[in-house]
Amino acid sequence: MTLRELYLSHGGKVADKWALYLDVYERVLAPYRNKPVSMVEVGVQNGGSLEIWARYFPEAAAILGCDIDPKCGELRFSDPRISVVVGPANTEETFREITSRVPSFDIFIDDGSHTSRDIVFSFLNYFPRLSSGGLYVVEDLHCAYMPAFGGGIHRPDTSMAFLKALADFVNRPWWERARDPAAHLDPIFGQGHGVDPASFADVLGVSFYDSMCIIEKRPPAATPGLGPRITVGTEAIVEPRVLPGLQAQ
Ligand SMILES: C[S@@+](CC[C@H](N)C(=O)[O-])C[C@H]1O[C@@H](n2cnc3c(N)ncnc32)[C@H](O)[C@@H]1O
Repeated sequence: MTLRELYLSHGGKVADKWALYLDVYERVLAPYRNKPVSMVEVGVQNGGSLEIWARYFPEAAAILGCDIDPKCGELRFSDPRISVVVGPANTEETFREITSRVPSFDIFIDDGSHTSRDIVFSFLNYFPRLSSGGLYVVEDLHCAYMPAFGGGIHRPDTSMAFLKALADFVNRPWWERARDPAAHLDPIFGQGHGVDPASFADVLGVSFYDSMCIIEKRPPAATPGLGPRITVGTEAIVEPRVLPGLQAQ
């Protein structure tokens, strides 16, 4: 069954996702489907999404939800792979509790408060714990345009501004050499912010969809950068300088 089919046939605890997300998730999560993945979803609410993830990933090792609402601590799941940590995602205590249960994860979904501040700090806190080759997902980014969530199209410090800056880090080798990577974050965090972007070097790709962003972490053994330029073929009547073996001339 596809994720959409699983989702639409779900009869247990309520899950709440936009239709587009199901299609995007199907595309990006399919390669992980029959692997022993560990995943974390911030934002549990009624617990339905955790149940659906457990069905979508039959070999999953752990499916951990985190929610600030104490009522989520009363949720009971028949699948022993599902557990819930109650607390605000970005406190030391919650971070410790999550990472003591699941030290690293293959998939991380931020469907929590949707405020720009929480989205950015969750990324700074949890992306370093994402496994190589893992996926970091942020949902409901329409909130980045809403003042009530710390958003606004012209604001320099929104979650979307941060994620767009992250896309620049994908192309980090092509910046002016003298450009300080941390200074690229000044508009978001203010001067002298002290945010260390070292882990951003592991961002392989950033994809944007309506309200959703997928950040891929570089797989193990993948070397950063473009790799060698590869030209193939023997006919080049328009631009012969691209013939294999001639580029350096
Ligand atoms: C949109 S709901 C989650 C829906 C669920 N993921 C689903 O797909 O059905 C958002 C949840 O995030 C929780 N939340 C809000 N702020 C949070 C925070 N700082 N840390 C963790 N959870 C938070 C809310 O209590 C709420 O239950």
